[in-house]
Amino acid sequence: MKAWQGAGDGPDRGPGRPDAAALEDLRRRGIELDPEGAAEDHAHPHHHAEPGEPPIIGIVGAGAVGTALGTALARAGWPVAAVASRDAERRERFRSLVPGARAFAEANALLDEVELILLAVPDDVIPDLASRLHMYSGQAMVHTSGALGAEVLEPAMAAGTQVGAFHPLVAFADTERAVAALHGATIAIEGDAELAALLADMAEAVGATAVRLLPGTKAAYHAAAVLAAGGFVALLDAIAELGRVTGLDEAGALAIYGGLIEQTLGNARALGISRALTGPMTRGDVGTLRRHLAALGRHAPDALPLYRAAAEREIALAEGRGSIAPEVAGSMRLVLAGPK
Ligand SMILES: NC(=O)c1ccc[n+]([C@@H]2O[C@H](COP(=O)([O-])OP(=O)(O)OC[C@H]3O[C@@H](n4cnc5c(N)ncnc54)[C@H](OP(=O)(O)O)[C@@H]3O)[C@@H](O)[C@H]2O)c1
Repeated sequence: MKAWQGAGDGPDRGPGRPDAAALEDLRRRGIELDPEGAAEDHAHPHHHAEPGEPPIIGIVGAGAVGTALGTALARAGWPVAAVASRDAERRERFRSLVPGARAFAEANALLDEVELILLAVPDDVIPDLASRLHMYSGQAMVHTSGALGAEVLEPAMAAGTQVGAFHPLVAFADTERAVAALHGATIAIEGDAELAALLADMAEAVGATAVRLLPGTKAAYHAAAVLAAGGFVALLDAIAELGRVTGLDEAGALAIYGGLIEQTLGNARALGISRALTGPMTRGDVGTLRRHLAALGRHAPDALPLYRAAAEREIALAEGRGSIAPEVAGSMRLVLAGPK
């Protein structure tokens, strides 16, 4: 495991961090910032892991992702030292799953305790929360969003800090099922080389594999995930609709076309996507394309746009691999563009 190499330990509080007077004021007004520990701890610069050890981790948000990641990391032996959640019940649940973690009601209080801050809060909350948190030199902050890039955390940065992202491609419904699902899952990471190496180790610690994304490409990565999951379901729905035309119920359509789908996925894995393409577009079979469009128009007009979009992509693939001549590809495109 790679050592965490924090860049220093200057207690350079950024603007917005509560000072002692503000803390006293909050305490007088009965606002609980640190339900467990002594208030003086907040004045200390953040704690450090021993060289060669994983960083001390704090998680903001004891929701589905924060709780499952905290649990998985703690079980893997990573030091999850603190959690921040505004909800007392969720704080207690987190502490029951991650023994020894300190619980805070407010995210800023957690910053004094840890080296690596994981923001596991809703996407829409991340930018605003980041603008209210100010890291110490040597700290890193990552969020778990699939849709946002690491750059949304920049407002929390100070000299010598790092920002990144750690997005598990897992459906976090139930904590234990999610912890189990992390094994074998993919986690998209962002960050500079040092932080990315650490996040890759962290992914490995929970049984997952890290994929490194290029900066600024998070939305594209997430869109591909949505095509792979939701987009694929939309395709299945169109297949089932056409199946009904032929007298198949949904189970029947899945049984018949599911086999073809699995074979195609197997071919793509073995041969590459382009060589896995089969069917009329690879042969330049304009007559078959016409018959398909007519049948769809008659029986399943709602599925026509999907068929057309896929066919355009298939024609480009077939042309690109040299299966059909450019004039044939052109004729097929004309048929596709015909009366809708
Ligand atoms: N769910 C999934 O399957 C999944 C998968 C991969 C990635 N993600 C990403 O992980 C992140 C968290 O998702 P989640 O499903 O864990 O959400 P969640 O279950 O709704 O939990 C969100 C947590 O953030 C806290 N929070 C909400 N609003 C806040 C605010 N204004 N200030 C501070 N904290 C606030 C919540 O409240 P308390 O402070 O009251 O505890 C809760 O602890 C999101 O970016 C999401 O896109 C989700």
